[in-house]
Amino acid sequence: MELRAPKGTVDMLPETARAWERLSAAAQALFERYGYEPIYTPLFEHTELFARGIGEATDIVSKEMYTFEDRSGRSLTLRPEGTAGVVRAAVEHALVPHGAVAKLYYAGPMFRYERPQKGRMRQFWQIGVELLGAGEPSADAEVIALLVRYFEMLGLPRDRMRLLVNSMGDEACRPAYRDSVAAYIRAHEAALCDECRRRADTNPLRAFDCKNEGCQRVMAEAPRISEALCDDCRAHYEAVKQHLDALGIAYEEEPRLVRGLDYYTRTVFEVQAEGLGAQNAIGGGGRYDGLFSTLGGPATPGLGFALGFERTLLALKAAGIEPGAGEGVAAYIAAVDESVREAAFSLAMALRDAGVAAELDHRGRSLKAQFKHADKLGARVAVVVGPDELAAGEATVRDMVTKDERRVALADVPAHVAALIG
Ligand code: HAM
Repeated sequence: MELRAPKGTVDMLPETARAWERLSAAAQALFERYGYEPIYTPLFEHTELFARGIGEATDIVSKEMYTFEDRSGRSLTLRPEGTAGVVRAAVEHALVPHGAVAKLYYAGPMFRYERPQKGRMRQFWQIGVELLGAGEPSADAEVIALLVRYFEMLGLPRDRMRLLVNSMGDEACRPAYRDSVAAYIRAHEAALCDECRRRADTNPLRAFDCKNEGCQRVMAEAPRISEALCDDCRAHYEAVKQHLDALGIAYEEEPRLVRGLDYYTRTVFEVQAEGLGAQNAIGGGGRYDGLFSTLGGPATPGLGFALGFERTLLALKAAGIEPGAGEGVAAYIAAVDESVREAAFSLAMALRDAGVAAELDHRGRSLKAQFKHADKLGARVAVVVGPDELAAGEATVRDMVTKDERRVALADVPAHVAALIG
């Protein structure tokens, strides 16, 4: 048996796991201020949900899904993203009655069978929001603002992020635009890769995402959606941009931004960060006013975003921020010899009960070794329990930074230490 995690997956060791917990907690605190409530949907769903929701011709559905049959022969798929499951749940539980708005957020693992590389995993972690029931442009601006604010709150400098926006049109104007891109692809077939040539028939807009340089050169000159938008979509897009301007949120219009999922209508956006190489999209999203109906629910507008935890962490680290750094133990209880070990243990418990992070040695190590351990743990305070101190009902509290030492009555140690560590 190979004792290694499967390709494209990693163990989140303590520093990364702590970063995940802190980023999730930060998201929760911020998102709740914007009125979002948590939702957990299953890690697997009926395959058809993703096939219909995300689109048969997308890379995700056609190449990247972890699909399996359960013991009853149902086709199930590990979720490659969170939106389809949230919309399914919203329909199933009637979370968005006519005229109402639901704001939901989630955090958890997603699964895509992609070629692993820096910032691209087969199991990766997302934090996302979905705002259901509001079609107005101010809702788009609020969702975009929330994504930007979240990255700012984590400390990512605004000048290390680019916010790209585009409008993809809707069912009124996109079909004609798709046809014009398909015609353009056919006219430039010779300069395109096999896959892009095929895309003319299956999903022409995907050709904008091709990584092949020749294709990118050709697609740079392709018809632009901005010139093909119908009046309603154009007005909607203009209003979204006006709201962003009013909020002082800088963005760049990117007419080739098409995103990798077919459910999008109108606004799409992406945040790219510096220092990540090819996989530089740390978050993205958009509006999906047709998704409820595609899945068989009542027509309901919606939009949202998801950000990738691994890429966000890379971007933060590239900016010199270490969200998973340990804080170190506050107090280390050192026992001078065997006779005081029980008392040291009780003192550690009293400190913990008082809310102070305290550690002690269970291995019977020498006092010197215990001090070394305290240093390694980054202890701010050492509490030394010795037979003499104990006989007087006291312990020695040493400030590891100032090296100041004093004897303190055992009962007062927790309050004294709490005051020292502030
Ligand atoms: P997405 O762009 O496919 O959108 O994924 C969102 C983010 O997840 C990406 O920007 C990226 O940071 C991260 N990500 C995607 N694939 C991987 C991977 N293989 N490895 C590491 N990170 C990855 C969605 O998933 C939509 N559901 C977003 C949305 C919500 N749209 C509307 N509502």
